[in-house]
Amino acid sequence: MPEDSPTFLRQTVTAQPTAAVTGAYPQLRLRRNRTHGWTRRLVAETRLGIDDLIWPIFLRDESCVEAEIPSMPGVRRVSLAELSDAVGRAAELGIPAVALFPYVEPDKKTAACDEAVDPENLICRAVRKIKAETPNLGVICDVALDPFNALGHDGIVHGDRILNDETIDILCRQALVQAEAGCDLVAPSDMMDGRIGEIRRRLDVEGYQDVAICAYAAKYASAFYGPFREAIGSGAALKGDKQTYQMNPANSDEALREVALDLDEGADMVMVKPGMPYLDIIRRVKETFAVPTLAYQVSGEYAMIRGAGLQGWIDGDRAMMEALLSFKRAGADGIFTYFAIEAAERLRAG
Ligand code: PBG
Repeated sequence: MPEDSPTFLRQTVTAQPTAAVTGAYPQLRLRRNRTHGWTRRLVAETRLGIDDLIWPIFLRDESCVEAEIPSMPGVRRVSLAELSDAVGRAAELGIPAVALFPYVEPDKKTAACDEAVDPENLICRAVRKIKAETPNLGVICDVALDPFNALGHDGIVHGDRILNDETIDILCRQALVQAEAGCDLVAPSDMMDGRIGEIRRRLDVEGYQDVAICAYAAKYASAFYGPFREAIGSGAALKGDKQTYQMNPANSDEALREVALDLDEGADMVMVKPGMPYLDIIRRVKETFAVPTLAYQVSGEYAMIRGAGLQGWIDGDRAMMEALLSFKRAGADGIFTYFAIEAAERLRAG
């Protein structure tokens, strides 16, 4: 800080808390605050609560195959008949919201993704059921074409291109059928340019001003989505990868541009995804924009913690809680996690 800068500025700067206390031992011993359970609790800087958790649920039709998902032990695809119990438990634990993802039978997948905009699709039926039974539980729907796409991509495929503007049109219609079914928050996870603004406009025109949008703003082309693609059955069909729309893991400034654009276009919340390998992005987004920022602890992160825990290589429960806390420390306001029920049970038990 130059000598001639205004006093208030210099004061503000010198008043910043500083970690630069060197050479203070033996007067200063940081271990003193760690001595007792009560001091550790008292000086804890970050807390994880049930209010921070969002539970992603995979849905299946009654006719569907398997409930089990081999790469996600402990996570099941839930049928509509099983849904009441599942969401009832979430509501009873005080989890604020669930996020829905459909397993779509291969014979219902088309290149035009027709099933995505059918008001009778699995997602819409599930939303109506949840809203009728547990109206105070938040319902979040993914706006993206991949579960419905015969080609596995999040957009309409033309040759080897993923068409941006044609995709947006279908995404708007998809968001509308979800809103009509009673969805509270639509979450576009497709990474097409300009979709937040268009979806906002279309929802408003149709009278859904109160339906909120959570933009998957900084979504990376990640290897950690593998188990999810197995869960929704989109992986087998996928040709190529998603690098022409999802972000390069090398980039961080670009995440801020994505977030800025989505906020300008009307996003109410933004999301960073995956979670743990991108804690630096969560921190930058939160510090730059100070808006509601969510993190998604994705399927591969779940699989690693669960898998190693089941092998006995790590303490799975402690690793789960530590990973969730790390999102809060990085600045996230909420966390999509497949551990939501277990974490909430632990939090409730204290
Ligand atoms: C796709 C979508 C993906 C996830 C959520 N929405 C996968 C992808 O982009 O291929 C991944 C979530 C997870 O891995 O848990 N619209």
